[in-house]
Amino acid sequence: MKKALKDIDVKGKKVLVRVDYNVPLDANCNITNDKRILATIATIEYLLEQKAAIILISHLGRPKGKVVPEMSLKPVSKKLSELLGEPVKFVGGDCINAESKKAAQGLKSGEILLLENLRFHPEEEGKNAKGEKDKDAMNAFAKELAGMGDVFVQDAFGTVHRSHASTAGIVNYVKDAAAGFLVEKELQFLGEALENPKKPFLAILGGAKVSDKINVIENLLNKVDVIIIGGAMAYTFLKSQGVNVGISLVEDDKLDLATEILKKAKERKVDFLLPIDHIIANKVDFSAKQVPTGAEVKTTIDEVIPEGFMGVDAGPKSIEEFAETVKSAKTIVWNGPLGIFEIDEFSKGTIEIAKLVAEATSDKGTLSVVGGGDSVSAVKKAGVDKKITHISTGGGASLEFLEGKELPGIAALPDKLL
Ligand code: 3PG
Repeated sequence: MKKALKDIDVKGKKVLVRVDYNVPLDANCNITNDKRILATIATIEYLLEQKAAIILISHLGRPKGKVVPEMSLKPVSKKLSELLGEPVKFVGGDCINAESKKAAQGLKSGEILLLENLRFHPEEEGKNAKGEKDKDAMNAFAKELAGMGDVFVQDAFGTVHRSHASTAGIVNYVKDAAAGFLVEKELQFLGEALENPKKPFLAILGGAKVSDKINVIENLLNKVDVIIIGGAMAYTFLKSQGVNVGISLVEDDKLDLATEILKKAKERKVDFLLPIDHIIANKVDFSAKQVPTGAEVKTTIDEVIPEGFMGVDAGPKSIEEFAETVKSAKTIVWNGPLGIFEIDEFSKGTIEIAKLVAEATSDKGTLSVVGGGDSVSAVKKAGVDKKITHISTGGGASLEFLEGKELPGIAALPDKLL
């Protein structure tokens, strides 16, 4: 068990808090979704109560070690200030230059400072100025950051799967460190679902590629009672079983792997549910986000997809079958959409699943954990996000957690003293 925020002394201290303010911005640098900022408020408010001086550190986007003005955290400082109703200082330029250090040094208890995008420095991601891998450069950067505060709080769940200066390295150079409230909550719910699930335990996995989810499937096969597979991934599984899938997206080099997984599921007595019918279309323009004019869209009678058509969503019979499973589950983990969610006409299966998962949660007390950008958007779009037990703020991080991988940003934290 890792140290949590309330396990360490932050009273009157200068506290460095790693947050994940990697928020979406529009062309005018307006924040289009402030969920990740909101998710850190609890930790910040607690630190304010404790009269700490708060130094927030974060990345935004992937500037690859260069200063990219459009990826400045300045808009975030404004948004955070609005949300908190407190001033948030922002220096800009560079997170460890003399000005930033001066601001950190002069920061008084109860004040908040947000430093500029950590990834403007190549060292944050373990590289030197030449772009070469360089552990010493990363450690030196981590040490400089650490020198700006007394203790470190990890609250950037979305980034804990990265082994970076500000996520893992920094812990070696501070007096004490702990998980913030957001990270604690994420670990609690994801951990509860995976380590101590009430049965039946159902995993719903969607998305385009078997290769993206293979490690999750392998890990979950040891834990779940039922797996529902949706999205284009399902067509690779169906094709591996000799089912005609027309021109559906298939990873032909993963057909053997798909067969192997199905065999393992059988051996482990895990129900492996694939769609038994589909919504299909003979033309899809993935970039247009709508059904192209003149495209024919229909529903199959079974799992077979005729030539010239591709599967774009789970069909009504599949949803009916999946509904029974969702209703009886006591623990549900969901990652990835069941169809081409970006296109309204093909998002029905995913939306339906979102509603069913929410209903199971509110009506039967099922523990539901949703992660991954599209499934999170789906529960929002379906208007049921408030009913889900836990919506993870981490896409990649929650996926790696489900894979059973060690998360460097968590592993680096000190253990709780028992
Ligand atoms: C995310 O958005 O998943 C996190 O902020 C991590 O960002 P990254 O994938 O660029 O490391």
